[in-house]
Amino acid sequence: MTERSGRPIGSYREADQDCLVGGSGTTASLLDWWERTSLVPRKSQGRRTMGLFSKDIQSMDDLFVHTLRDIYYAEKQIERSLPKMIGKARNDTLRKGFEEHLAQTKGHIERVEQVFKQHGVEAKTVRCQAIDGILAEADEISGEASEDVRDAALVAAAQAVEHYEITRYGTLVAWAKELGRPDCAALLQQNLDEEKATDARLTKVAEERVNRAAA
Ligand SMILES: [Fe+2]
Ligand SMILES: [Fe+2]
Repeated sequence: MTERSGRPIGSYREADQDCLVGGSGTTASLLDWWERTSLVPRKSQGRRTMGLFSKDIQSMDDLFVHTLRDIYYAEKQIERSLPKMIGKARNDTLRKGFEEHLAQTKGHIERVEQVFKQHGVEAKTVRCQAIDGILAEADEISGEASEDVRDAALVAAAQAVEHYEITRYGTLVAWAKELGRPDCAALLQQNLDEEKATDARLTKVAEERVNRAAA
C-alpha cells in the first residue's frame, strides 16, 4: 500500500507528519490550524495557555506545576458551572448531590491553593481546553434534552467532569510522590477520593432513579 506521494505507508512517522501538517509542512501552519479549529480559540481568552508546544515545561517539576494549574483552572470552571446544573436537575437526590459537590469543589480549590503554597509556587490558572469542552458539551446536551431525559443527560455530563478530575488528580498524586512531596500528595489524594466518591454516587443515582425514570 502506498500513499499519494508513492512512498510506502509503512513509515508511521512520515505518514503521521504529513497528516499533521496538512501538506504545508510547517509547524507554524499546524499552530495556525489549531487556533482556527479549536473549540475555544487559544488567543481569544486573553489568558496564557501552556501546552503541547510550550518550551516552559522542561522538568518533572514544571510538568507538576503546569498540571496543578490546569486542575486549578478546571475546578474554578466547575465551580461556575455547577449552579447551572443544580438549576436544571429535577431529581431531588441528583440536585442535592450537585449542591454538596459544589461545596466540595470550593474545598478542592482551597486544597489546590494549599498545594501551591506548600510547593512554593504562585497559585494561578492555565487554561484547560479539555474541561472547557466537557463543560460546553454538558451545557449543550442538558439544554437540548427534553425534561424527561434531562437528568440522565446531566448525570452523564457530570460523570465526564468527574472522570477528568480523577485522571488529573491521579496523575498529580503520583507525580507529587515522585517529586518527594508527600505533603502535597496527601492533599491531592483527598480531592481524588472525593471525586471518586462523587462519581460512584452519580452512578448510583443513575441506576436507581434517573435512567429508569427516563426509559
Ligand atoms: Fe473537584
Ligand atoms: Fe468533581
